[in-house]
Order: sequence, then structure tokens, then C-alpha cells
Amino acid sequence: MNTKHLSSFVIFQICLVYGSHFRGGTLTWRPLNATPSGSSVNLLVRERFSWRRSYNYPSYGIVCYCDDTTISTAGTIGENDIVQCAPSIYCSYWSPLNTTTFCTDYSTILDVSSGERTRVYTLPLNISFTIYYYSGNWLADLVKGGNTAWQVSNRINTNLRPDGYINTSPVAVTLPVIYKEVNIQHVHVIQMSDFDSNDILRCRWANANSSYNTNQYDECGGICEGVPGAQLIQANCTIVFTLVTAGLYAGVALQIEDFYNATTLAANTPMSSVPLQFLFYGYATPVGCSMPPQIVGNRPNRACIGTPIGSNVTEYVIVETYCPGQTIVNFITSSPVGMEKSAILNPSPGVYNLILSWIPLSTQYGPEPFCAGAIDNNNLQSNQWCVTFLVGFDSPDVIRPKVVQGSVSPVGTIFQNQTFFSFQTTKFVGRPNRNGTNIYFRDATNNGTIVAQFDCGWAPEVTFTGYTTVIRFNNTPPWQPAHFYYVTMEGGVVSGTEFCGPESAPIKDPTYWVFNIWDPAVSSTTTTTTTPFTTVTITTRPTSTTSINTLLTTTGIVLTTAATSTTTTSTSTTSTTTTSVTTGSTGSTITTETTASVIYSKDFEKACKYPIVIMTTAIFAVTGPIQILVMYAAFMKFEKMFNPTHIKAKTRHKQRMERIIRS
Ligand SMILES: *[C@@H]1O[C@H](CO)[C@@H](O)[C@H](O)[C@H]1NC(C)=O
Ligand SMILES: *[C@@H]1O[C@H](CO)[C@@H](O)[C@H](O)[C@H]1NC(C)=O
Ligand SMILES: *[C@@H]1O[C@H](CO)[C@@H](O)[C@H](O)[C@H]1NC(C)=O
Ligand SMILES: *[C@@H]1O[C@H](CO)[C@@H](O)[C@H](O)[C@H]1NC(C)=O
Ligand SMILES: *[C@@H]1O[C@H](CO)[C@@H](O)[C@H](O)[C@H]1NC(C)=O
Ligand SMILES: *[C@@H]1O[C@H](CO)[C@@H](O)[C@H](O)[C@H]1NC(C)=O
Ligand SMILES: *[C@@H]1O[C@H](CO)[C@@H](O)[C@H](O)[C@H]1NC(C)=O
Ligand SMILES: *[C@@H]1O[C@H](CO)[C@@H](O)[C@H](O)[C@H]1NC(C)=O
Ligand SMILES: *[C@@H]1O[C@H](CO)[C@@H](O)[C@H](O)[C@H]1NC(C)=O
Repeated sequence: MNTKHLSSFVIFQICLVYGSHFRGGTLTWRPLNATPSGSSVNLLVRERFSWRRSYNYPSYGIVCYCDDTTISTAGTIGENDIVQCAPSIYCSYWSPLNTTTFCTDYSTILDVSSGERTRVYTLPLNISFTIYYYSGNWLADLVKGGNTAWQVSNRINTNLRPDGYINTSPVAVTLPVIYKEVNIQHVHVIQMSDFDSNDILRCRWANANSSYNTNQYDECGGICEGVPGAQLIQANCTIVFTLVTAGLYAGVALQIEDFYNATTLAANTPMSSVPLQFLFYGYATPVGCSMPPQIVGNRPNRACIGTPIGSNVTEYVIVETYCPGQTIVNFITSSPVGMEKSAILNPSPGVYNLILSWIPLSTQYGPEPFCAGAIDNNNLQSNQWCVTFLVGFDSPDVIRPKVVQGSVSPVGTIFQNQTFFSFQTTKFVGRPNRNGTNIYFRDATNNGTIVAQFDCGWAPEVTFTGYTTVIRFNNTPPWQPAHFYYVTMEGGVVSGTEFCGPESAPIKDPTYWVFNIWDPAVSSTTTTTTTPFTTVTITTRPTSTTSINTLLTTTGIVLTTAATSTTTTSTSTTSTTTTSVTTGSTGSTITTETTASVIYSKDFEKACKYPIVIMTTAIFAVTGPIQILVMYAAFMKFEKMFNPTHIKAKTRHKQRMERIIRS
């Protein structure tokens, strides 16, 4: 091999190592127990990074490939590198955080994979220092900062808050790559949330000037001000921007900060500063179908969903397409560790589903965000749709009368002048903070026509008394003799009271709450129970078993189409009632719908009413194995960590190599 070949071989190797494989990420932290005790605190530090999936050079410690097997077997992706401590007297408390992460998401079409890792650090109280992840490179095709090094910085802070607790940093979530059409102004909202529910959240552009910013360190490497001309509304983290060049990416580097109150906000002294970096990609106005697909539900964007630890969570991402021949070929997601995704389903023309299933672990206590975007066969990307799973909390369930008799009232045959209706919930609830949460009364005898509806967001007819919610008609009720009626509810008609107020699940099942109106023309209303009620054991939640006596009914139960209704609740009952009624069965006009036992909620920033909830020590048990997986860095890495000049040398070396490569 002659010298020329040798040098190009070396350059080739260096290109590989420093190639463009980074796609953004975030660093956050929270105390396992926010109440200080003793002189130290256990802080759970979480890193999340995205990579170019096709970038794989195992001999250089870089593997970015991920597929379903990687996710289900907790395989790792990323660079064999570390998150370091910026020079500080407190760095002795920090040991390097391995930047290989457990893969959670990948997209074949966008060529991206993402992973997450957490690690518990025991730190003294009343200290603060900055941690950062620095390396290279961002990709070449950037509007600004192509082929530059990345820098992701966060400040750890164990000072007590004025309220005496240890702070939790905010959490923000995004997809790693977001497609937007060029030459159109776009508005992109980033969901911010904070477990310390009264904190004021702000987001700002990351800043490279270490003497100026909170982290006292470079926060954005080469992608500072990476979206030329973009405006940022700091209070709700909304970016208003226009991309001008098709085929180029723009790097977005934000810092999300939490302030204790208006005084500290005015003084610009946040308690923490969380990085969030991702990419916009500009595409030219497509010929043909220019309508991107849309994610339409089945929950609203930015919903909050209570998910008990250990429960089997099943959620649907539902996408609509709008053009002939438009199909969904891929999803890009950002999900919690352990969440599995189904293949893309196409249940009906123009509708596509992705089914998520996940069993949250106790280490995942608190908010765990999920985001998805659908990609069609023209590479158009849908809106970003994000929900937050609030792990360790229940959402209120409206109790099914078939499970606990008397949980809704009245049922069975009632008088025409009945104006008072009530239902019970599994939790103490209040009025939801958003409108569009309706309870519908429908006439089953007349094809399910809505005869009355109340928006729980504001309707004065609806009163929340804790476990029982009451609906009182102000006017003459619309009931007609001998008609059958049933009640349906949209998601979120009631709202839990902790943190973000997880909302109740929608109820679409027409057999959930049924009553009929007494017909004076028929002399005897015969509601006969042919099978005696039995005492059954009902498991309403994995944690509690209730024994109830179904004989304790308030009114006669008219259970019409028990055999045809399938409702998936986490309950089991052996109660069988058959009924002969005076009018024809409503079964023929009722479409049987399956309502998943799911849970709903509203925006994070608003409804937060209760303070931080205390962690359990169970978290230690689960983080143990993860800690064992974290292999300590090789000598070189330690050396690099304690030697800031090495970093500068690394940058210079890279820049030199890039000049060589370009020339
Ligand atoms: C931390 O600071 C708070 C407030 O200044 C003080 O009350 C507390 O004793 C300090 N704790 C330790 C362990 O230094
Ligand atoms: C950094 O910010 C400080 C304070 O605002 C300013 O004095 C300094 O000139 C800035 N440095 C650079 C390199 O912009
Ligand atoms: C963000 O705040 C701006 C200014 O207050 C407002 O106009 C905009 O509607 C808000 N956006 C969202 C998504 O709340
Ligand atoms: C903010 O909190 C500090 C410390 O508790 C307090 O002194 C100050 O009055 C508060 N400011 C506001 C506007 O509530
Ligand atoms: C979770 O629920 C899904 C769908 O209901 C089911 O397919 C899966 O087997 C369940 N997983 C566990 C571990 O129970
Ligand atoms: C409703 O009608 C029944 C029978 O007509 C009557 O007994 C009852 O008092 C009425 N209730 C009210 C609140 O008017
Ligand atoms: C909900 O609707 C009521 C009545 O239209 C209105 O007064 C109220 O401001 C709305 N609330 C919200 C949060 O939009
Ligand atoms: C009931 O609704 C179905 C579907 O909307 C419609 O086809 C049918 O004509 C309706 N029947 C009556 C009696 O309104
Ligand atoms: C990071 O962890 C991987 C295994 O998960 C290990 O192979 C690697 O050496 C570790 N790197 C550092 C820098 O600790």
C-alpha cells in the first residue's frame, strides 16, 4: 500500500467515526424522592438520543441499527461515548453516563432510530453543575451547521426549592425529524410538562455563549439559531417558521426551563434547563396529492393518560388519508422504553392504525411522553401527535352499572318526569378544564338520536360532588313514553385531581347505561328476573378486589342485549340477568361497539392542582439491573472527562480532518 492509499484509508476511517449520524436528543432528571432527607439525594438522570439508523460501524463503537427485535430484547444503539461533567468542583460526584441507549423507536424511511437510558446518581444536596454530551457530527445537509459537532447540555441542581422540595426538571418531547413543506409558514408546538405542577415553564433558543446562559456552557454546538428567521413564543414553546430550501434539514436547539414563580421568572433564574434538539426537513410542494395524512385520535393531541404501574396499556394511533392511492407506509415515533408497536393496520379505506402496547415499570413513574407522525407513500408526514402517559396514576373510570349495580342511576323503567341522573367514578373527580366533553342522552327507539347533551366543561346542569357526578335537567326532560334511551360519554367528562388531571375514558357502548320510560297505556310493566343475582368478585384494578352483592340494586335492571355486547373492561362478572320487557328489544338497532378500558386527560400545563407525589423505593429495585448494564468508560474516556483541553483538541482535530476531506 503506497502512502497515498494509506492516507486516504486513514481519512476514510476517520470519516466513519465522525460521520454524520446524530439526530438530536434530550437530557432530563428527577429525584427519586423529592422530599429531602439527610444530606444527599438520588437523582434519576435520563438521556434520549436519535441516530441515523443506517450508520453502523461496530468496530468504532457505533451501532445505530434498530428493529423490532432490538426493541423487544432491550438492545442498545448509539455511540460508545459518555455524557460528561463540565469543569466544576462537583465533577467528582458525576461518573460518566454511557451514551449507548436502549432502542425505543425507529423509522426505515426517515432512516432514524432513537433510544433512551436512565441512571441513578447519589449527589449531595445544595450543589449544581452542568453535564453535556459533545461529539460529532450533525449531518451535512443542514441549512446551518452542516457537519459540525453537537453539544447537548443540562444543569443538575440539588438546591432545595423555596417550597422545601428537590426540583424535578421539565420534560419536553418531539419527533426527531419533522417534515414540513417549503415556502409555507408553519406553526410547531412542543409539548412541555413538569412534574412540579406549579412551576412556570419557558422555552428559549439554546445559546453557545457560556458566560450568558443558564448552563454556563455551550448548549448547541454548531446548530445555534439553526432555523433562520424562526420565531419562538417562549410561554407555550411554539415555533413559527418557514423553510426555504427543499431537501435540506434545519437543526432546532431549544432549552426548556422551569421557574419557581413570577419573581424568579423576572430575574431569569430557572431551577433547571433541559435541552431538546431535533430536525425540520423541508420538502417541495408535491405534485399530485398535497394533503399530508392526519392523526385524528382516538385521543386529542396532548392528552394525559393515567397508566398504573404494571398495567397492560393498549393505545391506538389512528390516521386518515385524503387522496386516492395515498397509503401510510411508515411511522416515526418517540416512545417510552418497552413500548411495542404493531404492524401498520388498514381497517378501512383511508384509515390506518398503529396499536401501541406497553407495560409501564416502576422506574418509569411520572410523565412518559409518546409522539407519533405517519408517513405516506409520497413521503409526506402527518402532524405530530403526542400524548403523555402519567405512570403510577389511575384515570377515573366511570363505573359500569353491569359491574356495580347502582353505580348509575336511574336504570330500568322510569317515569316520564325524571330529571335527576347520576353516575359514579372510581376516583374523586372534578370538572374537566376543557370544553367538548359531552354526555349524550340518546333515544334507542329512534335510531340513537341525541335528545339531550351536556358539555361537562361548563354545563351548569352537571355537578361534581367527588365520587358521584349529577346531571339535573333544568327544563322538561325530552322522554317519550315507552321509548328506550341510553347514555354515551366522550372522553374526559370527568377529570382526576392529581398532577395533570387524567381524564375518564370515552363510553360509546349503547348498553352501558340504559333506561326506558314507563308507558301508562300498558298496565303492568313486567321486569322479571329469571336468573337470581349472584355474589361476584370484581377486580377493578390490578391492585384491588372488591366483593359486591349484585342483589343490591336500586331499580329493576333492564339488561337488553347482554349476549351481543362485548366490552373490554378489566372486570369479570358472572351475573346473568334476562329480562322480558313490554316493548321490543332494542338489540336490533344497536351497533355493538367495543370500548377499550382507557383513560384520558387534558393538557399538562393547565390542570395541575396537586404537588409532587412521593416516590417509592421500589424504583431502586428496578434500576439496579440497568445500572449493572452501564459499563464504565475505558481509560481514555476518563482521561477525556477530566481533561477539558482534550475536548478542544478533539474539535480541532475534527475540523482539520473535515478540511482535509473537503479539499
Ligand atoms: C441546603 O440548603 C438549605 C437552604 O440553604 C439548608 O437549609 C440545608 O441545611 C442545606 N443542606 C445541606 C445538606 O447542606
Ligand atoms: C457572551 O455574553 C456576554 C454577556 O452578555 C457578552 O458580554 C459576551 O460578549 C458574549 N460573548 C460572545 C462570544 O458573544
Ligand atoms: C401560544 O401563545 C401565543 C401568544 O400568546 C398564542 O397566540 C398562541 O395561540 C399560543 N399557541 C398555543 C398552541 O397555545
Ligand atoms: C416567589 O417565591 C419567593 C420565595 O418563596 C417569594 O419570596 C416571592 O415573594 C415569590 N414571588 C411571588 C410573585 O409570588
Ligand atoms: C396486553 O394486551 C394485549 C391486547 O389486549 C395482548 O395482546 C397482550 O398479550 C397483553 N400482554 C400481556 C403481557 O398481558
Ligand atoms: C313524576 O310522575 C309520577 C307519576 O305521574 C308522580 O308520582 C311523581 O310525583 C312525579 N314526580 C315529580 C318530581 O314530579
Ligand atoms: C367553554 O364554553 C363556555 C360556553 O360556551 C364558555 O363560556 C367557556 O369560556 C368555554 N371554556 C373554554 C375553556 O373554552
Ligand atoms: C337509522 O340510521 C341509519 C344509519 O344512519 C339510517 O340508514 C337509517 O335510515 C335510520 N333509520 C331511521 C328510522 O331513521
Ligand atoms: C457503554 O455500554 C456498552 C454496553 O451497553 C459497552 O459495550 C460500552 O463499553 C460502554 N461504553 C462506555 C463508554 O462506558
